[in-house]
Amino acid sequence: MVGSTVLIMTSPSGSVDPLSSFEQVAAQRRSSLLVDRERVVPNELLDRLLVVAATAPNHKRTFPWRFRIITGEGRLHLGEALAQDLIDAHQAEAKIEKARAKYLRAPVVIAVAAVQGENDTMTAENRDAVSAAIQTLLLGATAAGLASYWSTGAAMTSTRLHEFCGFDHSDTVVGLIYLGWPTGTPPPINRPAPEVIRIGTPPATP
Ligand SMILES: Cc1cc2nc3c(=O)[nH]c(=O)nc-3n(C[C@H](O)[C@H](O)[C@H](O)COP(=O)(O)O)c2cc1C
Repeated sequence: MVGSTVLIMTSPSGSVDPLSSFEQVAAQRRSSLLVDRERVVPNELLDRLLVVAATAPNHKRTFPWRFRIITGEGRLHLGEALAQDLIDAHQAEAKIEKARAKYLRAPVVIAVAAVQGENDTMTAENRDAVSAAIQTLLLGATAAGLASYWSTGAAMTSTRLHEFCGFDHSDTVVGLIYLGWPTGTPPPINRPAPEVIRIGTPPATP
């Protein structure tokens, strides 16, 4: 296995930069709702992306992720369920209407939750693993040509969301992920260089 990886990554001339295609995918990934609301995302593609997402590292091999794929009229029902929270809270009608239509902004919404661990540390690590799975999903979606958008907010702790998705009450919802075929590109973003401090003597470059 290791041998075959080395073969793929090393060109005879040594001129191939093995990281560059991944760098491109990572740089292309943006949070975007500029998507075709009608164009179908094939089920097979979604299934593949979730298998890729589930390759994320997870301490103690708890495989803590739960995915719910919400499409078609399911998005309307989700909006209706969450609008009910706003009705209960006596929010303005315009806000309630907005909530009803919210999940129609993309053809696919994937609810992602993390299961509770046996103790607080494991619960935190499960959530970390699910975040890693979401990022893997986003990168996979980007590689497949899809736009993606990770959203959170008040809905994450809604009992109605848990019930709609069939999550346990002890599960933590980590995000609602919108996916769709892009119709545009979001404006560029300025990313500060990450803080990196070297500790120890760096190895000599070969
Ligand atoms: C945990 C998490 C929650 C997020 N929740 C929201 C959200 O509720 N609404 C939103 O507009 N963006 C949300 N985002 C997306 C960020 O706003 C976005 O990543 C950031 O603006 C950088 O843009 P980029 O993803 O295009 O690089 C979330 C991102 C993360 C990691």
